Amino acid sequence: MNFTLPPQYREAGVGELCDRIRAVRKATGKKLCILTHHYQRPEVVVFGDFVGDSFELARQAASQKGVEVTVFCGVHFMAEAADIVKTGRQRVFMPHPLAGCPMADMADMEDVNRAWKYLESLKLADRTVPVSYMNSTAALKAFTGARGGLICTSANAVKAFRYGFENKEKIFFFPDENLGANSGRKLGLRPDEIALWDFRLDRGGLTRAQIEKARLLLWKGHCHVHTNFKPGHIERIRAQYPDVKVIVHPECLPEVVDLADGDGSTRYIVDYCAKAPAGTTIAIGTEINLVKRMALAYPDKTVVPLSGEKTPICFNMYRINLNNLAYCLENYESMPPVTVEDSVRKDALTALEKMLTLD
Ligand code: 13P
Ligand code: SF4
Repeated sequence: MNFTLPPQYREAGVGELCDRIRAVRKATGKKLCILTHHYQRPEVVVFGDFVGDSFELARQAASQKGVEVTVFCGVHFMAEAADIVKTGRQRVFMPHPLAGCPMADMADMEDVNRAWKYLESLKLADRTVPVSYMNSTAALKAFTGARGGLICTSANAVKAFRYGFENKEKIFFFPDENLGANSGRKLGLRPDEIALWDFRLDRGGLTRAQIEKARLLLWKGHCHVHTNFKPGHIERIRAQYPDVKVIVHPECLPEVVDLADGDGSTRYIVDYCAKAPAGTTIAIGTEINLVKRMALAYPDKTVVPLSGEKTPICFNMYRINLNNLAYCLENYESMPPVTVEDSVRKDALTALEKMLTLD
């Protein structure tokens, strides 16, 4: 699929784009809402009616009243989730149709179904609850809901795992092996109670004994942005700033999370920066746009990217810019909304609603 903006949007300057965005906002009032994720470019975040982590954005989409159009500045799974949880007839649009999440695409439904059938053949499926990360397709969310499972985000993964273990003996977590391992470890699981299901290998590359012993099965998926951070980056930053606080996202490798002073969702990172006393030095292990925004927001603190100049960008989040935001706002009536088929929606909603009511 190609997505090319007409020249008048491609070539417009920042001032003109901002004026056009403001004009649509004024004309549409409260019937149009712009939701933005924390990884969006700062100039896009400015136009958000609401900026949040993926949990807060889903909660916001589920509670909006009187909104007819949501313009979602984030990646596809987030817009899909907004379409699933919406309560009215609102339509959800994305400024760039190709802003996806590679990790969400790492759990192909054919592979997932094959893995689950194998658990059924071992008579283990009844003793296992699927838990899926918000960063997943609507189809995987529906698979999860149909089997009594629930969705989680990085903000509530530990709670979701606790809920899972209260109901079943084992959890199969899709598709982020690192968030899964970090959450399992926080609940005190031992390494031999956690097994990695490599979907490229026959029977996940695991022996029957390993599967039977595992309390937590992890799908082999990862975020290419967060797995860039290595223990060496933390060692280097601590040598450079001896008092530094290192804060990372839990999609990072467990050995990185172990060395950090704290880990949590993008909202946690934003709150940490806000609450830290003036003069604090904070090194952040997450997507660079959020780190740069925090550095600008708190000039009385030193906020630096954990891996310096090499701190990665999420190119999919970055696809959204003022040009395609202005285009989307002026032309959404001729754009396809993000929609989830009814056959998928019901079970996906069940799994998402369970997450939204976790306390
Ligand atoms: P949050 O849920 O923390 O906002 O993270 C979403 C995400 O995609 C992180 O890579
Ligand atoms: Fe997906 Fe990683 Fe980008 Fe988050 S940062 S949207 S997990 S690719």
